[in-house]
Amino acid sequence: MITVAEVDSTNSEASRLISEGRLKDSFYIVADYQNGGRGQGQNVWVSKPGKNLLMSWCVFPAFLSVKKQFQLSKSVCLAVSDVLTQYQVPCSIKWPNDILTGFGKIGGILIEHSLMGSKIRHSIIGIGLNINQVHFPEFPFRASSMMLELGKETNTEDFRNRLADQLESRFSQLRRGEADQINSDYLSNLYRLNADSVFSDGVVEFRGMIVGVSEIGELQIETNEGISTYGFHQVRMVH
Ligand code: BTN
Repeated sequence: MITVAEVDSTNSEASRLISEGRLKDSFYIVADYQNGGRGQGQNVWVSKPGKNLLMSWCVFPAFLSVKKQFQLSKSVCLAVSDVLTQYQVPCSIKWPNDILTGFGKIGGILIEHSLMGSKIRHSIIGIGLNINQVHFPEFPFRASSMMLELGKETNTEDFRNRLADQLESRFSQLRRGEADQINSDYLSNLYRLNADSVFSDGVVEFRGMIVGVSEIGELQIETNEGISTYGFHQVRMVH
């Protein structure tokens, strides 16, 4: 495990290390602080120094085709959810890969793939998980942390070691081709599955119910008119 005190973003640093050609096997990089933490899309990921888990895991999933890249995302969400369960923090996965607990969003995942034809050359899996931070800036969503959920400190190093174990275990499951198990575990942890919800597609708000997630990671929403599928950023849950 590579540990650094400060970096712009562990994902960016992992990418630089790979392009320098120094690292050919999977590796982890963790930082106490990121001065340019990145989230999904244009979002930033802000985290107080030394309080939380900021980690990137770089893997070389040669066995996974580009078409199946969302399987990796599912496995990573499940690894995080497995560890939270070990700590007795109930959680759910908000499609595509936000981790929610009782008080709000506790963690986020940013996966960046480098592709080579129909294969994945490497994937940089960035995970931000709030551990001991209690005050958060105002975001459109409420943030949570292990501290807020459990009312006591959690050792960040213990958490990250458990997470590394679970990531490896879910990754092996994926490599063994146990996609059905991964899919059903993902669905049984999915936030608001089969629950009446309100969505927005950027133009209108509509009522519907999440009924599944396709193999390529699209959200399947059932409305009175049938089932429609949505890619990332094409739909958001209003409530
Ligand atoms: C999101 O919810 O938008 C994804 C957040 C991902 C944050 C992590 S923190 C470690 C890694 N380095 C980054 O710059 N981002 C990811």
